[in-house]
Amino acid sequence: MKIAIGCDHGGFHLKTFVLGELSRLGHDVHDYGAKTFVPDDDYPDFVRLVGQAIHGGEAELGILICGSGVGASIAANKMRGIRAAICHDIFSARQGVEDDKMNVLCLGGRVIGESLAAELVRAFLAASFSGAERHLRRLDKVAKLECESSSRSASDA
Ligand code: RB5
Repeated sequence: MKIAIGCDHGGFHLKTFVLGELSRLGHDVHDYGAKTFVPDDDYPDFVRLVGQAIHGGEAELGILICGSGVGASIAANKMRGIRAAICHDIFSARQGVEDDKMNVLCLGGRVIGESLAAELVRAFLAASFSGAERHLRRLDKVAKLECESSSRSASDA
């Protein structure tokens, strides 16, 4: 599977581990940085690259790692068609794909360890969207929220 991965300084060490795991599992993974540890880099810069890779079809799924997973997920969800969530439990990493068609998994490099990260990534990648009518209906409503709110200015929010 084609996967885009990105991180800031808070996720840098965990990303190095996850990258190795993905390669070991045989995935076609592209690293969108940070390529080196830069203590004051900014997660939205790497979120943008991963989101653009999904928009452009270079990746089917993305993995973003910042310190908590919060900033990366907030930023990623600002991008059209990106459905990102922090999942630090296996149930959510799987069900987020099956029910909500999550296409970006966010992790907190300062929150979880390597073993859990590896299991979360495996659950995320092994899952597939159920396509159930009720989930399609909800996704359609989510997409409408995206359209409606993109016509409002940031100061309205
Ligand atoms: C960076 O220090 C940290 O704020 C960032 O990695 C992330 O945790 C934000 O949510």
